[in-house]
Amino acid sequence: MNRPKNRYYVNLDLPYQVNCNLEFLKSNCKISPIQRHWNKFGPRHIEHMLSRDLLDWFDSVGVCIPTVEVFFTKPNATAPWHIDMSPPQDHIKINWVWEEGTEGISYMEYSEIELGEAIRNTKKTIVGTEYILLDDSTVAVDRINLRGPTMINAGRPHRAHNLKPSGRWCLSTIPKYKGTDVRILWDDALKIFSKNLLV
Ligand SMILES: [Fe+2]
Repeated sequence: MNRPKNRYYVNLDLPYQVNCNLEFLKSNCKISPIQRHWNKFGPRHIEHMLSRDLLDWFDSVGVCIPTVEVFFTKPNATAPWHIDMSPPQDHIKINWVWEEGTEGISYMEYSEIELGEAIRNTKKTIVGTEYILLDDSTVAVDRINLRGPTMINAGRPHRAHNLKPSGRWCLSTIPKYKGTDVRILWDDALKIFSKNLLV
């Protein structure tokens, strides 16, 4: 099996595209005064945003997509360094990104710091899931101009870094094992999506 050379992201070749686009996100998601904003969508929204064909394909490989979030990063803004779950787990997300305007560029930044000393505190999202905020001195080792579909490891330190004079929108899905509420870990995901990895 071809494996990515890192443990934090790999682009995917999926058989279907998502229906979602920049116009949909801009007209259906509220932008709050903070730089990072997300919405939780129900099953009908998820089918509309992704596509029935894509959801059926995920189902055929034993995966369900019960949760979709939308993150917005303001122009010229950087999200805080964080890990998506506390305690940290190498669980995956599959993301798509759209940028407003053509000027400038935005990135996901990743770090490979040892987590033990860097963890500052655990916070709760508005739906009660926990994430870990990391020290600002965390050092980036890689910058990815992510477009998607990209499988990312949300258990590694990361942040959005938007150098554009316009906004960055990310449609982020949390794949789970079909029929469960269990997130999929990085090594298992490499096997499940082995035919779809762009490496
Ligand atoms: Fe995150």
